[in-house]
Amino acid sequence: MPAMDGAELLAEILKINPNAIVILMTAFGSIEAVVEAIRHGATDYVSKPFQMEDVLFRVARALKEKHLEKRVADLESQIQKQTAAQKIIGSSPAIKRLKQTIERLAPTADTILITGETGTGKELVARALHEASGRGAKNFVALDCSSIPETLIEAELFGHEKGTFTGATDTRGGLFETVADGTLFLDEVETLSSAVQAKLLRVLQEKVFRRVGGRVDIEFRARVIAASNQNLPEMIEAEKFRRDLFYRLNVLPVEIPPLRERREDLPEIVAYLLAKRSKELKTAKFKITPTTLEMLARHDWLGNVRELENVVSYVIALGGNLIDAADLPAQFQSSNPKIQNPKSDDKTARTLAGIEKIHILQTLESVNGNRVRAAEILGVDRRTSLLDLQRHIWFDGCHDGRANASKFRIKE
Ligand SMILES: Nc1ncnc2c1ncn2[C@@H]1O[C@H](COP(=O)(O)OP(=O)(O)OP(=O)(O)O)[C@@H](O)[C@H]1O
Ligand SMILES: [Mg+2]
Repeated sequence: MPAMDGAELLAEILKINPNAIVILMTAFGSIEAVVEAIRHGATDYVSKPFQMEDVLFRVARALKEKHLEKRVADLESQIQKQTAAQKIIGSSPAIKRLKQTIERLAPTADTILITGETGTGKELVARALHEASGRGAKNFVALDCSSIPETLIEAELFGHEKGTFTGATDTRGGLFETVADGTLFLDEVETLSSAVQAKLLRVLQEKVFRRVGGRVDIEFRARVIAASNQNLPEMIEAEKFRRDLFYRLNVLPVEIPPLRERREDLPEIVAYLLAKRSKELKTAKFKITPTTLEMLARHDWLGNVRELENVVSYVIALGGNLIDAADLPAQFQSSNPKIQNPKSDDKTARTLAGIEKIHILQTLESVNGNRVRAAEILGVDRRTSLLDLQRHIWFDGCHDGRANASKFRIKE
């Protein structure tokens, strides 16, 4: 090689075609040069003198790897390209109607109120509405109203001027500014205090707001989508939610029915979850026996699709590519002694809290008490303190009925 050395040649080849497979031929003992070349994009190497069989084997292996890499990249880009509306799985009349409603309501600028039990897909629907709205390229800002302390929520929403309160060392824009003319998703809107409800109402009516301590009106141009898993009319009667705000938010109501009222969607959702999981885990396809599907379809799913997701994660974590009835958690096995032991008596097994508690305990058991792994399987990432998972039984999205209490905890 008179004109350039191996490293330079490698760089030139990859410049012309970054996907080229380069196998290096090296003199015995130049292992440092090999390491360097592989770091710079060579696929493999053979040492001189070489066996033709060895070379053929390495070429075949490199081609296979390349092929697989491309396949995975294709699949991943497909998943990424999937719109939120495409992620709403189901062909029941209720889901078909929901999808039509999304298409019809998305383009308007009116406020939407999404209601539905926990885990029915309110956030998914909010994203689908945003993507189909013509504001799709703009910001989608989701605020979980229950997760921000009362004292901070105003500054969080409205922003604040420098020096307004201790700690306000800078002027800072709030979410109303960040969202600009995108979509503002107010999740668990019923947890806002009545003072903040009143302020939100004013913004929706007057379409302007001020930073905390500010004197200038800032125009509010965002589309508001609110969501609640509570019965708002009942909360209004109990004077826990403002009637006037309800009417402002509820311009276009979207109600998502619970999974148990559209059981025919269950097999399709399970298939989707299994396919998604096998792609994520880069494993072979999962299969499920018809009996297992029937058992799942009989369940009441008080935690809706999220609960179903957790159960699917649970059975997958148990291993095996064929999912059988015996793999299901104890609450599906009516004759399973676990359900009857004193720790999980009948009452526990029937309530949502009880089922989740049993499920969490079983998940913990199935991973030998590894909390990180258990949290992963349970999908309780963003708001879960792992310490809590250990000390309490924790779960996401359940309400214990008290105002502003968004987390449901049961001591073990
Ligand atoms: N029809 C569906 N098809 C596929 N996945 C769904 C469907 N409905 C919900 N999901 C999935 O279930 C999970 C829960 O949905 P989401 O977070 O939107 O529920 P939610 O109604 O906001 O619940 P919560 O009231 O507890 O906040 C998400 O992972 C979502 O992608
Ligand atoms: Mg939600």
